[in-house]
Amino acid sequence: MVRVGIIGAGFMGNMHATVYSQFPDVKVAGIADIRGEKAKSLAEKIKSIPYYSPEELMKKEDITIIDICLPTFLHKQYVIMAASYGKDVICEKPIALTIEEADEMINVCQEKRVRFMVAQVLRFWPEYRFLKEVYDRKKYGSLRTISCQRLSATPNWGWQNWLQDSERSGSALIDLHIHDTDFLLYLTGQKPEKLTSYGKLEEGGYTHIYTTFSFPQGIIGQVEGGWDLPANYPFLMAFTAIFERAVIEFNSRNKPTLVVYEANGRIERPEFAPKQVAGVEGNISDLGGYYYELRYFIEHVIHNKPFGVITPEQARDSLAVVLAEKESADTGKTITLK
Ligand SMILES: NC(=O)c1ccc[n+]([C@@H]2O[C@H](COP(=O)([O-])OP(=O)(O)OC[C@H]3O[C@@H](n4cnc5c(N)ncnc54)[C@H](O)[C@@H]3O)[C@@H](O)[C@H]2O)c1
Repeated sequence: MVRVGIIGAGFMGNMHATVYSQFPDVKVAGIADIRGEKAKSLAEKIKSIPYYSPEELMKKEDITIIDICLPTFLHKQYVIMAASYGKDVICEKPIALTIEEADEMINVCQEKRVRFMVAQVLRFWPEYRFLKEVYDRKKYGSLRTISCQRLSATPNWGWQNWLQDSERSGSALIDLHIHDTDFLLYLTGQKPEKLTSYGKLEEGGYTHIYTTFSFPQGIIGQVEGGWDLPANYPFLMAFTAIFERAVIEFNSRNKPTLVVYEANGRIERPEFAPKQVAGVEGNISDLGGYYYELRYFIEHVIHNKPFGVITPEQARDSLAVVLAEKESADTGKTITLK
């Protein structure tokens, strides 16, 4: 039995705790949150122990894994604290808000010889995994263009409204849009050569962003991410991937969610069974990606295998690309990446 401590009992803490409670070989041994009542209610829900202080939980010797579900500006401090107590760490995306912070986290985890994974969940999301698999096998030939969308109502669940504060969250540009940027880096296995971004800048930072990427293989990517939609707008994620011999279209609102239109006239509709759980806060009720992501993390820790799907350096590289997108949106210039 692996014993995990969760730090942060908000939206993602709730999601991770719910997923762990489905694993027979994992025990959530404690949940810490500075809002004691949040820790208490989540601990009651999954039969765990609430803590007010993250450090008190990290000191427990029988806990070997710490899961950081804190607002992004706190990731560095608490990942380093967990590593200093010799714990293996998983931390929610984005890794951090600056490259310096990300590098420090990576270096400390290496020095302390602890495992460190960043939870870039799209790499584990069934429809995105399907796309990665057909891309790698070249099942429909080479990828020519891909467009991705991620649209949400303004997130209002955060502690002290931290998501609306660019200094603490990086705004929609870093917090929301990094999902698709990270996935395109994973899909193509490369950084884009060039990018151009336009964003809608509001008081709390960029709330809506459009980026065009040009990748070394000649692939063009177009990504839209925004969280400035009205409260009644249902969360949407989508992509259209145009290959030499097929188009793959995914839309989280459709049933089925994904359709393959082959150039030979065949139409395929692969099934992706949702793992739905009631009572999770936030905008997503399907545990799918989170379930596969945390299962991957736990199994790779138990069997001491390297994290091939997402390394901390790749999470840092995705942050670097998103920061270049910010520079492009700020200056109106196309950015060439080294
Ligand atoms: N992978 C995804 O799909 C996804 C979705 C949403 C959020 N996230 C990420 O998850 C992280 C957490 O976001 P969230 O939506 O759960 O935020 P949240 O505000 O819902 O939860 C954060 C919790 O941390 C607690 N907290 C704040 N400071 C603390 C401290 N010093 N010690 C202990 N607890 C403290 C708050 O009380 C709150 O309960 C962020 O990095 C965010 O970007 C990822």
